[in-house]
Amino acid sequence: MTPAPTLDSPGTDKGAFVREMFASIAPRYDAANRVISAGLDEGWRRRAIELLDVPPDGRVIDLCCGTGDVSFHLLRTHPALSVTGIDFCAPMLDRARERAEKEARGCVTFLEGDVTSLPFGDDAFDGATMGFSMRNVDIGATLREVGRVLKPGARFVNLDMSKAPNKVWKGFFDLYFYRVVPLVGGMVGGSRAAYTYLPNSLTHHPSAVELRDRFTNAGFKDAGFLPLMGGSIAVHYGTKA
Ligand SMILES: C[S@@+](CC[C@H](N)C(=O)[O-])C[C@H]1O[C@@H](n2cnc3c(N)ncnc32)[C@H](O)[C@@H]1O
Repeated sequence: MTPAPTLDSPGTDKGAFVREMFASIAPRYDAANRVISAGLDEGWRRRAIELLDVPPDGRVIDLCCGTGDVSFHLLRTHPALSVTGIDFCAPMLDRARERAEKEARGCVTFLEGDVTSLPFGDDAFDGATMGFSMRNVDIGATLREVGRVLKPGARFVNLDMSKAPNKVWKGFFDLYFYRVVPLVGGMVGGSRAAYTYLPNSLTHHPSAVELRDRFTNAGFKDAGFLPLMGGSIAVHYGTKA
Protein backbone atom coordinates (compact mmCIF):
# COMPACT_ATOMS: atom_id res chain seq x y z
CA MET A 1 0.00 0.00 0.00
CA THR A 2 1.33 3.49 -0.86
CA PRO A 3 1.71 5.64 2.28
CA ALA A 4 -0.26 8.89 2.41
CA PRO A 5 1.90 11.85 1.30
CA THR A 6 3.28 13.98 4.09
CA LEU A 7 4.65 17.48 4.04
CA ASP A 8 8.17 16.02 3.80
CA SER A 9 7.40 13.77 0.79
CA PRO A 10 9.52 14.79 -2.22
CA GLY A 11 7.74 17.24 -4.51
CA THR A 12 5.07 18.16 -1.96
CA ASP A 13 3.76 21.71 -2.48
CA LYS A 14 3.40 23.09 1.07
CA GLY A 15 0.59 25.51 0.13
CA ALA A 16 -1.49 22.82 -1.58
CA PHE A 17 -0.85 20.37 1.26
CA VAL A 18 -1.97 22.88 3.92
CA ARG A 19 -5.02 23.96 1.88
CA GLU A 20 -6.21 20.38 1.39
CA MET A 21 -5.63 19.56 5.02
CA PHE A 22 -7.77 22.46 6.21
CA ALA A 23 -10.43 21.66 3.61
CA SER A 24 -10.69 18.17 5.15
CA ILE A 25 -11.27 19.50 8.69
CA ALA A 26 -13.26 22.68 7.90
CA PRO A 27 -16.74 21.37 8.87
CA ARG A 28 -15.62 20.43 12.38
CA TYR A 29 -12.73 22.88 12.86
CA ASP A 30 -14.52 25.14 15.37
CA ALA A 31 -15.80 22.29 17.55
CA ALA A 32 -12.37 20.62 17.59
CA ASN A 33 -10.66 23.89 18.59
CA ARG A 34 -12.94 24.40 21.56
CA VAL A 35 -12.41 20.83 22.81
CA ILE A 36 -8.62 20.74 22.23
CA SER A 37 -8.05 24.08 23.99
CA ALA A 38 -10.68 23.36 26.68
CA GLY A 39 -12.39 26.60 25.56
CA LEU A 40 -9.31 28.71 26.36
CA ASP A 41 -8.65 29.71 22.74
CA GLU A 42 -11.38 32.34 22.83
CA GLY A 43 -9.64 34.11 25.74
CA TRP A 44 -6.30 34.00 23.92
CA ARG A 45 -7.87 35.66 20.87
CA ARG A 46 -9.31 38.36 23.13
CA ARG A 47 -5.87 39.04 24.66
CA ALA A 48 -4.36 39.31 21.17
CA ILE A 49 -6.98 41.82 20.03
CA GLU A 50 -6.38 43.96 23.12
CA LEU A 51 -2.85 44.52 21.77
CA LEU A 52 -4.00 45.69 18.35
CA ASP A 53 -4.43 49.41 19.10
CA VAL A 54 -6.56 50.33 16.09
CA PRO A 55 -8.80 53.38 15.43
CA PRO A 56 -12.42 52.49 16.34
CA ASP A 57 -13.64 52.78 12.73
CA GLY A 58 -10.43 51.55 11.09
CA ARG A 59 -9.84 48.91 8.41
CA VAL A 60 -8.33 45.66 9.67
CA ILE A 61 -7.10 42.65 7.71
CA ASP A 62 -7.39 39.23 9.39
CA LEU A 63 -4.78 37.02 7.73
CA CYS A 64 -5.48 33.27 7.42
CA CYS A 65 -8.93 34.00 8.85
CA GLY A 66 -10.14 30.38 8.53
CA THR A 67 -13.70 30.13 9.83
CA GLY A 68 -13.54 33.72 11.11
CA ASP A 69 -12.84 33.36 14.83
CA VAL A 70 -10.47 36.33 15.04
CA SER A 71 -12.58 38.43 12.62
CA PHE A 72 -15.71 37.98 14.75
CA HIS A 73 -13.79 38.78 17.94
CA LEU A 74 -12.54 41.98 16.31
CA LEU A 75 -16.10 43.06 15.58
CA ARG A 76 -17.35 42.14 19.03
CA THR A 77 -14.59 44.30 20.55
CA HIS A 78 -14.74 47.18 18.04
CA PRO A 79 -18.16 47.07 16.29
CA ALA A 80 -17.39 50.00 13.96
CA LEU A 81 -14.35 48.36 12.38
CA SER A 82 -14.33 47.22 8.77
CA VAL A 83 -12.78 43.73 8.77
CA THR A 84 -11.44 41.82 5.76
CA GLY A 85 -10.67 38.15 6.36
CA ILE A 86 -8.44 36.42 3.84
CA ASP A 87 -7.69 32.71 3.52
CA PHE A 88 -6.75 30.36 0.68
CA CYS A 89 -9.03 27.48 1.73
CA ALA A 90 -12.53 27.80 0.23
CA PRO A 91 -14.30 25.38 2.65
CA MET A 92 -12.95 27.34 5.65
CA LEU A 93 -14.26 30.56 4.06
CA ASP A 94 -17.66 28.94 3.36
CA ARG A 95 -17.97 28.28 7.07
CA ALA A 96 -16.84 31.86 7.90
CA ARG A 97 -19.54 33.27 5.60
CA GLU A 98 -22.22 31.02 7.15
CA ARG A 99 -21.17 32.23 10.59
CA ALA A 100 -21.14 35.88 9.45
CA GLU A 101 -24.87 35.67 8.70
CA LYS A 102 -25.56 34.61 12.29
CA GLU A 103 -22.75 36.18 14.34
CA ALA A 104 -21.40 39.33 12.73
CA ARG A 105 -22.86 42.60 13.86
CA GLY A 106 -20.79 44.80 11.62
CA CYS A 107 -18.82 45.04 8.43
CA VAL A 108 -16.92 41.88 7.52
CA THR A 109 -15.87 40.50 4.14
CA PHE A 110 -14.19 37.14 3.53
CA LEU A 111 -11.92 36.82 0.51
CA GLU A 112 -10.03 33.90 -1.01
CA GLY A 113 -6.34 34.66 -1.37
CA ASP A 114 -2.80 33.82 -0.34
CA VAL A 115 -1.27 35.87 2.46
CA THR A 116 2.16 35.67 0.83
CA SER A 117 0.78 37.67 -2.12
CA LEU A 118 -2.01 39.94 -0.88
CA PRO A 119 -4.45 41.43 -3.42
CA PHE A 120 -4.33 44.94 -1.88
CA GLY A 121 -2.40 48.11 -2.51
CA ASP A 122 0.24 49.56 -0.20
CA ASP A 123 -0.74 51.30 3.08
CA ALA A 124 -4.36 50.07 2.89
CA PHE A 125 -5.05 48.89 6.48
CA ASP A 126 -5.04 50.37 10.00
CA GLY A 127 -4.23 47.03 11.62
CA ALA A 128 -3.60 43.34 10.88
CA THR A 129 -4.22 40.14 12.83
CA MET A 130 -3.29 36.51 12.35
CA GLY A 131 -4.45 33.58 14.50
CA PHE A 132 -2.77 30.16 14.77
CA SER A 133 -1.35 30.28 11.26
CA MET A 134 2.22 31.59 11.20
CA ARG A 135 3.44 27.97 11.49
CA ASN A 136 1.79 27.20 8.15
CA VAL A 137 3.12 30.01 6.00
CA ASP A 138 6.36 31.33 4.56
CA ILE A 139 7.17 33.72 7.44
CA GLY A 140 9.43 36.07 5.47
CA ALA A 141 6.99 36.48 2.57
CA THR A 142 4.04 36.97 4.94
CA LEU A 143 5.79 39.61 7.07
CA ARG A 144 6.85 41.43 3.90
CA GLU A 145 3.26 41.49 2.62
CA VAL A 146 1.75 42.55 5.97
CA GLY A 147 4.30 45.35 6.19
CA ARG A 148 3.42 46.47 2.67
CA VAL A 149 -0.38 46.65 3.16
CA LEU A 150 -0.30 48.31 6.61
CA LYS A 151 -0.30 52.09 6.95
CA PRO A 152 2.81 53.54 8.65
CA GLY A 153 2.22 53.41 12.42
CA ALA A 154 -0.29 50.52 12.14
CA ARG A 155 0.17 47.36 14.18
CA PHE A 156 0.34 43.66 13.30
CA VAL A 157 -0.66 41.17 16.02
CA ASN A 158 0.03 37.46 15.63
CA LEU A 159 -1.34 34.80 18.00
CA ASP A 160 0.10 31.29 17.75
CA MET A 161 1.48 28.29 19.55
CA SER A 162 5.04 28.76 20.78
CA LYS A 163 7.85 26.96 22.61
CA ALA A 164 7.68 27.36 26.39
CA PRO A 165 11.06 28.30 27.90
CA ASN A 166 10.59 26.15 31.03
CA LYS A 167 11.64 22.58 30.16
CA VAL A 168 9.32 20.86 32.66
CA TRP A 169 6.28 22.80 31.54
CA LYS A 170 7.27 22.36 27.87
CA GLY A 171 7.57 18.60 28.42
CA PHE A 172 4.11 18.48 29.94
CA PHE A 173 2.63 20.65 27.22
CA ASP A 174 4.37 18.65 24.43
CA LEU A 175 2.89 15.46 25.82
CA TYR A 176 -0.57 16.96 25.46
CA PHE A 177 0.11 18.67 22.14
CA TYR A 178 1.94 15.85 20.34
CA ARG A 179 0.14 12.83 21.87
CA VAL A 180 -3.35 13.83 23.01
CA VAL A 181 -4.24 16.43 20.35
CA PRO A 182 -3.98 13.94 17.42
CA LEU A 183 -6.31 11.54 19.27
CA VAL A 184 -8.87 14.19 20.19
CA GLY A 185 -8.55 15.84 16.77
CA GLY A 186 -9.21 12.48 15.14
CA MET A 187 -12.35 11.95 17.20
CA VAL A 188 -13.81 15.47 17.17
CA GLY A 189 -12.15 17.03 14.12
CA GLY A 190 -12.46 13.98 11.89
CA SER A 191 -8.82 13.68 10.80
CA ARG A 192 -6.08 12.26 12.95
CA ALA A 193 -3.53 12.99 10.18
CA ALA A 194 -4.37 16.71 10.17
CA TYR A 195 -4.16 16.94 13.94
CA THR A 196 -0.80 15.18 13.81
CA TYR A 197 0.54 17.69 11.28
CA LEU A 198 -0.65 20.71 13.27
CA PRO A 199 1.44 20.03 16.41
CA ASN A 200 4.39 18.92 14.29
CA SER A 201 4.35 22.26 12.48
CA LEU A 202 5.58 23.80 15.76
CA THR A 203 8.75 21.68 15.76
CA HIS A 204 10.49 23.72 13.05
CA HIS A 205 8.89 27.02 14.03
CA PRO A 206 11.17 29.76 15.47
CA SER A 207 11.21 30.32 19.23
CA ALA A 208 9.29 33.34 20.55
CA VAL A 209 12.50 35.41 20.71
CA GLU A 210 13.54 34.36 17.19
CA LEU A 211 10.10 35.21 15.81
CA ARG A 212 10.23 38.63 17.47
CA ASP A 213 13.59 39.19 15.75
CA ARG A 214 12.04 38.16 12.41
CA PHE A 215 9.46 40.94 12.95
CA THR A 216 12.26 43.42 13.65
CA ASN A 217 14.31 42.27 10.66
CA ALA A 218 11.23 42.60 8.44
CA GLY A 219 11.08 46.31 9.38
CA PHE A 220 8.52 46.30 12.22
CA LYS A 221 9.44 48.63 15.08
CA ASP A 222 8.73 48.04 18.80
CA ALA A 223 8.43 44.30 18.08
CA GLY A 224 7.72 42.15 21.12
CA PHE A 225 5.62 39.29 22.40
CA LEU A 226 3.24 38.47 25.23
CA PRO A 227 3.67 34.89 26.49
CA LEU A 228 0.47 33.09 27.55
CA MET A 229 0.11 29.65 29.15
CA GLY A 230 3.72 29.71 30.38
CA GLY A 231 4.93 30.58 26.88
CA SER A 232 3.20 27.70 25.06
CA ILE A 233 1.12 30.38 23.38
CA ALA A 234 2.49 33.77 22.33
CA VAL A 235 1.10 36.99 20.91
CA HIS A 236 3.73 38.73 18.77
CA TYR A 237 3.29 42.32 17.73
CA GLY A 238 5.08 45.00 15.80
CA THR A 239 4.35 48.39 14.28
CA LYS A 240 5.00 49.39 10.69
CA ALA A 241 7.74 52.01 10.71
C1 LIG B 1 -5.23 26.92 12.08
S1 LIG B 1 -6.23 27.79 10.92
C2 LIG B 1 -6.48 29.31 11.77
C3 LIG B 1 -7.81 29.95 11.47
C4 LIG B 1 -8.16 31.17 12.32
N1 LIG B 1 -7.22 32.25 12.12
C5 LIG B 1 -8.27 30.84 13.79
O1 LIG B 1 -7.72 31.58 14.61
O2 LIG B 1 -8.95 29.87 14.12
C6 LIG B 1 -5.04 28.20 9.68
C7 LIG B 1 -5.64 28.81 8.43
O3 LIG B 1 -4.59 29.35 7.63
C8 LIG B 1 -4.93 29.20 6.27
N2 LIG B 1 -3.70 29.37 5.47
C9 LIG B 1 -2.54 28.67 5.59
N3 LIG B 1 -1.62 29.15 4.72
C10 LIG B 1 -2.22 30.18 4.05
C11 LIG B 1 -1.77 31.09 3.05
N4 LIG B 1 -0.52 31.02 2.54
N5 LIG B 1 -2.64 32.02 2.59
C12 LIG B 1 -3.91 32.09 3.09
N6 LIG B 1 -4.39 31.26 4.04
C13 LIG B 1 -3.55 30.31 4.52
C14 LIG B 1 -5.57 27.83 6.22
O4 LIG B 1 -6.36 27.65 5.09
C15 LIG B 1 -6.39 27.82 7.54
O5 LIG B 1 -7.70 28.27 7.32
